Amino acid sequence: MKVGILTGGGDCPGLNPAIRGVVYRGLDFGFEFVGIQEGWRGLVKGVYEPLTLEMVEEIIYQGGTILGSSRTNPFKNEDDLQAVLGNIKSAGFDAIVACGGEDTLGVAAKLYSQHGVPTVGVPKTMDNDLNNTDFTFGFDTAAGVGMDALDRLRDTARSHRRVMVLEVMGRHAGWVALYVGLAGGADWITLPEQPLDVEAMCAHLKAVRSRGKKYALVVASEGTEIPTEGEERAVDAFGHVQLGDRNVGEYLASVIEEKTGWETRSAVVGHVHRGGSPTLFDRVLGLRVGVKAAELVRDKEFGKMAALKGTEVVGTDIVAATATLKTVPPALLELAKTTFK
Ligand code: F6P
Repeated sequence: MKVGILTGGGDCPGLNPAIRGVVYRGLDFGFEFVGIQEGWRGLVKGVYEPLTLEMVEEIIYQGGTILGSSRTNPFKNEDDLQAVLGNIKSAGFDAIVACGGEDTLGVAAKLYSQHGVPTVGVPKTMDNDLNNTDFTFGFDTAAGVGMDALDRLRDTARSHRRVMVLEVMGRHAGWVALYVGLAGGADWITLPEQPLDVEAMCAHLKAVRSRGKKYALVVASEGTEIPTEGEERAVDAFGHVQLGDRNVGEYLASVIEEKTGWETRSAVVGHVHRGGSPTLFDRVLGLRVGVKAAELVRDKEFGKMAALKGTEVVGTDIVAATATLKTVPPALLELAKTTFK
């Protein structure tokens, strides 16, 4: 079988171990692999090259993706879609393994359900917001980077008797903010899943100060709803608002300082989350879902995604996985509240 592999959407640590996993297992079945460059863009433009054992052998510890990535959405215009379908045919691909989040896998799901393209999904996203899998690789590394940043901010917050606000990534779901806040002992966490309650946050920070604590830490998801002045925001090819310059942390810092009188500073993790060597968890999960994806191709289980369910990696429905986002459930929001003292 000739199998094309692509990685789409925002990169995250674990993609290279996943690519390696697909190739290593696929070689057991005699598959020939082709690396499609820069996500779905590579299939629109017909840019691919052979992917060999030697090319993937040493990438287990590397961040990013050796295949490159893009946020290209071939369903945005008919010409691109026809180019993808034509290129799959002319290149002779028997299967496409797509590594991505809801957008990239959403394209794989539609190509399968609407056009009969034999696709298999490998779930990735540092946001951890993909449904039908318990965790996605990329999240552990990205949240760990956030936790490290918060630990560092604690030192300087304590020295200067300040509030420090750390803004972390997470466009539609607050998994990163929640885990960073819980693991780093934040005094308050703001998430896209919950309306921002400035009064409650500031009252709590005042209470923290009154009981004698000399500093406080706030973790804010970039997707936290803050008042905007009606400005138009750019959207990507999948219609997602680009939040890069929204400055949630800066906004919260100014509100906190104004309402509590406590000196406050903010810092943004941003794309630093997405770089660097994957953690042990993300390397092994990436490898495992990659291996499973190759097995799904062997078994002709197309329209499936290799997902972590409990401690097992199984094939789950890719259409269901991309139909809705996995957001932080109320029980975990409650858990966070018990840690604010
Ligand atoms: O891939 C998810 C994500 O990291 C979001 O958390 C973030 O809002 C977005 O990507 C940033 O995208 P870009 O790299 O295109 O600026």
